[in-house]
Amino acid sequence: MEHALELAAQGVRGANPLVGAVVLSPEGQVLGSGYHRGAGTPHAEVAALADARSRGADPTGGTMVVTLEPCNHQGRTGPCSAAIAEAGIRRVVFAASDRTAQAAGGARWLRDRGVETDGGLRQAQSEHLNARWLRATAESRPFVTLKTASSLDGRVAAADGTSQWITGNKARADGHAIRARVDAVLAGTGTVLADNPRLTARPVPTDDAAGAAAGSTPPAQPLRAVMGLRPVPQDAAVRGPGFLQLATHDVPTALAELHGRGVRHVLVEGGPGIAGAFLAAGAVDELVSYIAPVVLGEGTPMFPPVGVPTLAAAHRWIPDPAGGGAVTQLGPDVRLRLRPAGDGNDGDNDNDGDDDPAAAGRTAVDRTAAASNTSASNTTAGMTTDTPATPSAPQHNQE
Ligand SMILES: NC(=O)c1ccc[n+]([C@@H]2O[C@H](COP(=O)([O-])OP(=O)(O)OC[C@H]3O[C@@H](n4cnc5c(N)ncnc54)[C@H](OP(=O)(O)O)[C@@H]3O)[C@@H](O)[C@H]2O)c1
Repeated sequence: MEHALELAAQGVRGANPLVGAVVLSPEGQVLGSGYHRGAGTPHAEVAALADARSRGADPTGGTMVVTLEPCNHQGRTGPCSAAIAEAGIRRVVFAASDRTAQAAGGARWLRDRGVETDGGLRQAQSEHLNARWLRATAESRPFVTLKTASSLDGRVAAADGTSQWITGNKARADGHAIRARVDAVLAGTGTVLADNPRLTARPVPTDDAAGAAAGSTPPAQPLRAVMGLRPVPQDAAVRGPGFLQLATHDVPTALAELHGRGVRHVLVEGGPGIAGAFLAAGAVDELVSYIAPVVLGEGTPMFPPVGVPTLAAAHRWIPDPAGGGAVTQLGPDVRLRLRPAGDGNDGDNDNDGDDDPAAAGRTAVDRTAAASNTSASNTTAGMTTDTPATPSAPQHNQE
């Protein structure tokens, strides 16, 4: 299970939870392993069975060790419960139960067909790994990735408003690869009026193989959402099929609207007004921050005031090893992949479950109090919620 958890953390965060799986022979030898690589791709159990077969191994009579109870529903891929039964697996050991309304019941389905099932092994670590995904699903809202691209001194535009481009081609190609796998991209009216962005996923030419791979991502186009009350000009580049204006300043309202349209993963691309609003609302599940080796000295800061009167109330983040590593160099730029501290995350990324819930709670309470003292522009959407990190009734599982 420890190995399965390490595998799970190699997946990318988004619409689906991180899940890893290992197939063992009846004698306990590893036959194959796999992890879920994101919505629409094979689930971990199916990937592990395929890995075993690709090595010439027969999983019949073996054991499936998986970090989440096998799903029992037809989404974009088939039910894992059926794939496991068809493979002749005799026993399934899983960490966390699937509590989603849509996909739960896999263990019972398997037991009814004579497969032995054991749940709860390393359950806390599995739930810890997916704490923010569990929270997003419990709140019936999309998983939120906030992307920023800034100078070394945290500016997203120069003093004269120019912002294209602070980062280089590889970082931009990477950003477009994220756009290609989310359901929606969201910016504020401020960015639309300043930069006239398209918000589509497009190839960005780069001069090496890794960058080219990111840049040539098939452009599965996300919904393009613009949040704010000012009208979006009729000739704005963002308009066209798949365009949506969210005429609100309230983050939960905007997220509920997106969820109602089937969005399960939204990429928030700012600028600072929107970035600050999502942060103050406690609605950022993942932060992807591209930092260019550029100093601007003045210009537009990455975030406006976000209700932090004192260091103890800071919005703290911890490195997230998921999705290819917490720190990645992309040409001259650096990508940080971070997740919020204070959701049972201990910051040492070792899945050891030694979180300090008291400290996490303290952070949330301090921040909620601080947010209530912030300026009007931030409190508009500052509905910081204290929903538990491990909720009881999420709506869906891996799609
Ligand atoms: N480097 C980067 O990564 C990057 C990315 C994006 C933008 N930028 C730069 O950021 C600058 C634009 O900044 P910005 O802050 O105006 O852009 P923004 O965050 O995209 O838009 C701000 C607008 O969003 C609307 N809004 C909706 N809900 C809100 C809420 N809860 N709180 C605050 N505003 C809310 C308001 O418009 P209404 O008045 O219409 O309601 C507000 O004026 C530009 O210079 C752009 O180039 C840089």
